[in-house]
Amino acid sequence: MRVAVIHGANLRLLGSREPEVYGSDTLDDINGRLTELAAELGVELETFQSNHEGEILDFIAEAASRVSGFLINPGAFTHTSIALLDAFLGVERPFVEVHLSNTARREKFRQHSYLSAAASGVVLGFGVHSYLLGLRGLVARLDADNA
Ligand code: DQA
Repeated sequence: MRVAVIHGANLRLLGSREPEVYGSDTLDDINGRLTELAAELGVELETFQSNHEGEILDFIAEAASRVSGFLINPGAFTHTSIALLDAFLGVERPFVEVHLSNTARREKFRQHSYLSAAASGVVLGFGVHSYLLGLRGLVARLDADNA
């Protein structure tokens, strides 16, 4: 089984970007932890980051034929992108939405996600552990679907 991890807008700046909000782990650190966990869970993993909404839409459409599901932190596209929601609805692959920070207790504009209602699950507020918990949840969901 293969899954894709998508990091959206501004997430390549992790480590130096508002560390008091997003922690000190870099994107490479996060991808490294995810790759280790994927090996432990027996799944193949690929990672993708883009600051461009259209590139993420293209990636979802193109990767869908080779992956069983997606783990995504869309960054600010969470709060703005109906196109991202439509991309996931279009490919009919389960996805899990994760956020480093607890967006539910931040500014009002961060409290709405266009994706959450269509996600298999959502993990907020645990820093790098949001991704790790999200990957575990996604793999459990895919295992259940295949049982
Ligand atoms: C974020 C939360 C978003 O509101 C913000 O725009 C980000 C990061 C998070 O991981 O906490 O870029 O998705």
